Amino acid sequence: MQLVITSHNLGLWAAAHICNRWKNSSKRPFVLGLPTGGTVEEMYAALSGLVKNGKMTFKDIISFNMDEYVGLSPEHPQSYHYYMHHHLFSHVDEKPENIHILNGQAADLDAECANYETAIKQVGGIDLFMGGIGRNGHLAFNEPGSAFDSRTRVIELTQSTIDANSRFFNNDPTQVPTRALSIGIGTLLDAREILILAAGASKAEAILQLVKGEVSTQWPVTALKNHAHATVLIDKEAASRLGTDILTQFDTLRKEDKDLVLSL
Ligand code: GLP
Repeated sequence: MQLVITSHNLGLWAAAHICNRWKNSSKRPFVLGLPTGGTVEEMYAALSGLVKNGKMTFKDIISFNMDEYVGLSPEHPQSYHYYMHHHLFSHVDEKPENIHILNGQAADLDAECANYETAIKQVGGIDLFMGGIGRNGHLAFNEPGSAFDSRTRVIELTQSTIDANSRFFNNDPTQVPTRALSIGIGTLLDAREILILAAGASKAEAILQLVKGEVSTQWPVTALKNHAHATVLIDKEAASRLGTDILTQFDTLRKEDKDLVLSL
């Protein structure tokens, strides 16, 4: 995998990357894995802009979202269904039948998860899986301890994640659902390519563990080191604990408007 530290806007960087991969791929339909979270809002705005300006279309894209809270209706403003329609699907031309988001209100949650895995296989797997990182290094909702071969399943959220996400629930952790459906780390690692975004000092510990720590299920993000085509794209704040050597290299390249790329 590679780590990219950039001074450019992460959302624009990521949207341009998705557009290039889609444009240059001979595979149609192109299958995208999609995340939620504050970090990727600008990416969705940029993708919506590309579609509006005729530079990209979602007509030949199939998407699978990473995760969804258990128990929230699609109309709930904090559900990931609502988020995706608000930030992306209402602005682009993806066919409704090509949009896949786990149903956190399914009567049989285990069957919902198993069917999701089957649906991904039926379209030939994910070409590019986008994602964010939790403060505790989680990927999708794969909390610390999740096996690297885990599949889509029901997950009990940790207090760290509940506290982090309570900012979207009136800053009240008791309003945050305690369970979610999430793709597994194995599901993510099956993708042909992965691009994960992390911004801000709250992600600096997870990035430190990724760069300097052991590969361990205690830091789910380290699973990406087992993938040949994974990229973690971060800003300077998320890189802030990586040490003066790396930060000096970054500052030198930044003056030339270049990113620092490290192979991990
Ligand atoms: C939630 C999502 C994750 C996402 C994380 C980061 O927990 N389930 O998939 O990576 O938020 O969110 P943010 O970008 O808001 O920090």
